[in-house]
Amino acid sequence: MTQFTFEKTPNPISQERRQALLQDPKFGRVFTDHMAVIRYNDEKGWHDAKVTPRQPLPIDPASTVLHYGQEIFEGLKAYRGEDGRPLLFRPQANAARFAASARRLAMAELPENLFLGAIEALLKLDHEWIPSGEGQSLYLRPFMIANEVFLGVKPATEYLFVLLACPVGAYFGSGCVPVWVTETYSRAAPGGTGEAKCGGNYAASLVAQMEAKEKGCEQVLFLDAVEKRYIDEMGGMNVMFVRRDGTVVTPPLSGTILRGITRDSLLKLGRHLGISMVEEKLSIDDVFAQAQSGEITEAFACGTAAVISPIGVLKRPSAIAQFGDGKNPGPVTLRLREALTTLQRGQSEDPFGWRYSVTL
Ligand code: PLP
Ligand code: COI
Repeated sequence: MTQFTFEKTPNPISQERRQALLQDPKFGRVFTDHMAVIRYNDEKGWHDAKVTPRQPLPIDPASTVLHYGQEIFEGLKAYRGEDGRPLLFRPQANAARFAASARRLAMAELPENLFLGAIEALLKLDHEWIPSGEGQSLYLRPFMIANEVFLGVKPATEYLFVLLACPVGAYFGSGCVPVWVTETYSRAAPGGTGEAKCGGNYAASLVAQMEAKEKGCEQVLFLDAVEKRYIDEMGGMNVMFVRRDGTVVTPPLSGTILRGITRDSLLKLGRHLGISMVEEKLSIDDVFAQAQSGEITEAFACGTAAVISPIGVLKRPSAIAQFGDGKNPGPVTLRLREALTTLQRGQSEDPFGWRYSVTL
């Protein structure tokens, strides 16, 4: 296995300042002292794996990522386990999805041992940045860019993998999230890149996200691109609905939605808890009608950043659907959230062997 070399920052953030930053880090603004980097080129393969001070990347203006957008990323969280060691949740699944995204974008695949090795190496230096407050964690952001200096359109021959770490609190504020159903924009079409975690998908979602903001919503829900009828997913999370009888329903993996690891974990964990978890195509008209009739009682977004965030209302140009009282998460949402978060944080049984304890 490629060994990581370590170059410690000469100017670490003081312990006092770190403690202050960890009090309320919000999401995505505070970063740790170091980053992990691995290089790739067609001749040498993956090489030069190191942990360095966090710093700007030197990028040639002709680097292919800046022109054709060959970029992919991942998101996972580290928690502090009961024994003090960092705990990850299914990081092998993130490594596999990163490799699948790379294949879709015709990029070099990073082997699982390097993906996990980078996380372990970075945590060796920066584990003290794992916050321990309620709902807090260290968000890990692995990403890869094409950095061959060339202006032709073809898969690059050089790539740069970088891993950042970022102490975070909740992605959304407290309470239920209002969600806008866009009928103007699509996120992903069959045969496109919806299943890959590539930056371009998020760039394409921003204008719809702006539309949502204009309508007083915090997130956007996308429909299938062909019929504009079936629910796909949200801009940065999957979606689930709860029926009056307690059944949880989520759209099936169609090739246009991200294979969420939280989504997959909830399907398995819910079944383990005796909850009926169903993958079923959901038409937006039915969801609105069933919210109105009381057949659907709860809705929530799920993902690494969002964890499980209750949806209070869904708005579309012609109607508003409210779930429960529109303000508070329902009982099934709460039960699943408790089961997932205690498992992730090492506070309950791990029936599926999902936790991954990091040796420092
Ligand atoms: N869907 C999209 C578009 C996302 O960006 C994410 C977040 O990563 C998810 C779903 C949820 O995936 P996961 O649960 O693996 O974080
Ligand atoms: C994640 O949940 O890790 C994501 O990448 C989604 C994004 C909205 C932060």
